[in-house]
Amino acid sequence: MKVGIPKEIYPRERRVAATPETVAKLAKLGLEVLVQTGAGDEAGYGDGNYTEAGARIVPDAARLFGEVDLVLKVRPPEPGEVDALKPGAVLIGFVWPAQNKPLLDKLAARKATVLAMDAVPRITRAQRMDALSAMANIAGYRAVLEAANHFDRFLPGQITAAGRAKPAQVLVLGAGVAGLAAIAAARGLGAVVKAFDTRSAVREQVESLGASFVEFDFKESGEGQGGYAKEMSAAYLAAEQALIAGHAKQSDLVISTALIPGKPAPQLLTEDAVKAMRRGSVIVDMAAEQGGNCPLTERDKVVEKFGVTLIGYTDLPSRMARQSSDLYATTIYNLVESLISKDKGFVLDLEDEIHRGALILKDGALMWPPPARPKPPAAATTAAAPATVAHAAGGPPPKKKGVGGRLALAAVVALLAAAGLCGPPELLQHLTVFLLACVVGWHVIWNVTPALHTPLMSVTNAISGIILVGGMVVLSSGGGESALTADILSAIAILLASINVAGGFLVTQRMLRMFRK
Ligand code: NAI
Repeated sequence: MKVGIPKEIYPRERRVAATPETVAKLAKLGLEVLVQTGAGDEAGYGDGNYTEAGARIVPDAARLFGEVDLVLKVRPPEPGEVDALKPGAVLIGFVWPAQNKPLLDKLAARKATVLAMDAVPRITRAQRMDALSAMANIAGYRAVLEAANHFDRFLPGQITAAGRAKPAQVLVLGAGVAGLAAIAAARGLGAVVKAFDTRSAVREQVESLGASFVEFDFKESGEGQGGYAKEMSAAYLAAEQALIAGHAKQSDLVISTALIPGKPAPQLLTEDAVKAMRRGSVIVDMAAEQGGNCPLTERDKVVEKFGVTLIGYTDLPSRMARQSSDLYATTIYNLVESLISKDKGFVLDLEDEIHRGALILKDGALMWPPPARPKPPAAATTAAAPATVAHAAGGPPPKKKGVGGRLALAAVVALLAAAGLCGPPELLQHLTVFLLACVVGWHVIWNVTPALHTPLMSVTNAISGIILVGGMVVLSSGGGESALTADILSAIAILLASINVAGGFLVTQRMLRMFRK
């Protein structure tokens, strides 16, 4: 199978979908890699780097598109690129299917199979393919640098012989991926940072980065499905605008990233709020592409209104082309790797949640949006959202109470009856506690959001610790009628709990290593 990396032609796009490192990895998967001349020039990778990594350089886009079976891109293809695509070819890149209906029609006419990086579900297993988060992280960082560049004062506070400079005050609106990256960058530069988000769940993350969370006493939750935000009521938005106007007035830099996927950006910074800001302040409206969080923002421009600089760049990741190409190329490679089988070539698994979620067209047939996954039974949880996420993340589907369930119940009753009739009195008591613990544990764990699996592991480790101590106490107590059985059971419990504790330490160690510089 031949895979092609064209040069991006969208205005000001400097990223590339594969780096020499990922080209070498693609070649290892058994793919023949073709790269268009100059594809990586603006991301810092010359044709020579790609040739060394095992790619063949092709002089123009028409030849590349006409020859390859799989195209890896950053931006959605332009009409000319679709026309050049080999009929039945596979295309992977950002597609934005909701906004690009005519493009989908054109691709469908070429019988293309299309997977969108922007549609990869945000689940734990797909984190290594999460191009959106990778790009938003870079964009948040870059937004702070752009703001600092247009700001005419220091960001950190300084005491010098010539006088004292106060630290800059930064306000971040929306603490998703880009917002959190902006907070980290602004804190790193020494600014004092405040942040606001409708989802109170992000408060801890904001505070852990050294920023303060803006208090808002309005009883409406911003939590939507799958960890995303939901659209707020008009009354909420009006109150929020007033709150933000008050904080913006005291801020030097505002980085606004508020967005609900698939909706126009909420207008948070009104014209009056901008008017009231100090002259020389800077707003970076990262939501400019979706209409902006401020009505005065002009897309892709830097404008000055009422003495305030408004930056509406929509190409922030592209302004750090090397870094973003490195990360984007890795995420797209990870998706390709999951699609390529050494013996069978390109294999799309419609049962795989990641493939199904990202799939937009299959041989020209529209496959987007993917079918909704079945909801868990109401009895399993009172909080529907986390359960849905756990399931969406590939957890086992909630089972119906059928013959299996009734058999299990009958077995439990028989076991308890036998223990009550034949065993010592305390056996029945222990067995009841044990079985109840199994039922409660089963329900609790199945309903935990995958994002919380790591803290869950700490809890299970703590429980294992209790089991270890209990097992040791039983072993050391000796005597009694059923001493041998108790000793054997305790030994098994100690062994299993030790495996869990040791395994927990090993996994934690691996995770810590990931975060070490
Ligand atoms: P995200 O979905 O992770 O975060 C958006 C955050 O906004 C969420 O935490 C949500 O709760 C919050 N939010 C929604 N409505 C709100 C409201 N009324 N008030 C306060 N907070 C609210 O999105 P991500 O990935 O962090 O991206 C943020 C923005 O940055 C998006 O508009 C995205 O398109 C944009 N972006 C811009 C780039 C550029 O070059 N300008 C590059 C990458 C992303």
